Amino acid sequence: MKPRKVTKAVFPVAGLGTRFLPATKSIPKEIMTLVDRPLIQYAIDEARAAGIKEFIFVTSRGKSALEDYFDHAPELESALRKSGKDDLLEILKDTNMDSGAIAYVRQNRAMGLGHAVWCARRLIGNEPFAVLLPDDVIAAERPCLLQMVEAYEETGGCMVAAMEVSPEKISSYGVLDVGQEGGNVMKVKGMVEKPKAKDAPSNLAVIGRYILTPKVLTNLNRMKQGAGGEIQLTDAIAEETKTKAGVYALRFRGQRYDCGSKIGFLQATVAFGLARPDLCNEFASYLHEVMAMQKAAQ
Ligand code: UTP
Repeated sequence: MKPRKVTKAVFPVAGLGTRFLPATKSIPKEIMTLVDRPLIQYAIDEARAAGIKEFIFVTSRGKSALEDYFDHAPELESALRKSGKDDLLEILKDTNMDSGAIAYVRQNRAMGLGHAVWCARRLIGNEPFAVLLPDDVIAAERPCLLQMVEAYEETGGCMVAAMEVSPEKISSYGVLDVGQEGGNVMKVKGMVEKPKAKDAPSNLAVIGRYILTPKVLTNLNRMKQGAGGEIQLTDAIAEETKTKAGVYALRFRGQRYDCGSKIGFLQATVAFGLARPDLCNEFASYLHEVMAMQKAAQ
């Protein structure tokens, strides 16, 4: 029997974004712009491409710019219409959500990703759901969440997106124990959040895309603070590795950028800038120039 379709997605956006202070003092991290679109737009587009119909945001104080972003902007739209700027009106269409398709729930204290997802439990109900962290931006021919939905339709259970990470960086991630398994879809035996490099069960890290069963929400009901004093989503998913439904990891095809870190954001800006047909030539020659100047100065 095929598992139930995934039509709901949770976007936890209630974090403090301290790595981008002072910018994030007044701008939500998810509104920061990669070329000309905020990070959240990339996540929404990926979710839509995977068949998501209901979008649940877990927000906090100071995130109202996010809510405005998905609303109609009557004055702007009428000014563009009057001046015949149909191309810009078309671009704005992606930012509008159907009535009732978007819901906001508040996390009143940043107690960790697990707690943020738990805050959305009543809106999720008793069905499988996706979780997308908008600061992970993934460039892929086939959107990452779509790859996961396709794999999940074969496996059921929970599905996490996995990528290989160097030993120096592994302690920043949730890490998978997949035994000797090869292939792109692997059965997960265990998961550990932010292990020391010497204790990491593999070099496979979990990144910010998940498909979860409602059972994970039940596990979160009982969760205590884990690594870093936060309620960890990893711990609640790890409990599912012991069940019949199980947990699977997909080694997705694509390049993930950690836009929650300064270096990741800069790398993504270069990659997405170069991928844009309207910008790539001028941008590439500028980058060449800068590199040449830097080399000459050394
Ligand atoms: P991060 O670990 O990147 O934390 O959260 P952060 O607060 O956003 O950023 P830094 O580390 O202070 O710079 C990963 C994702 O989980 C969400 C964040 O909004 C981000 O999308 N999150 C985290 C919550 O929604 N609530 C939390 O309590 C923690």
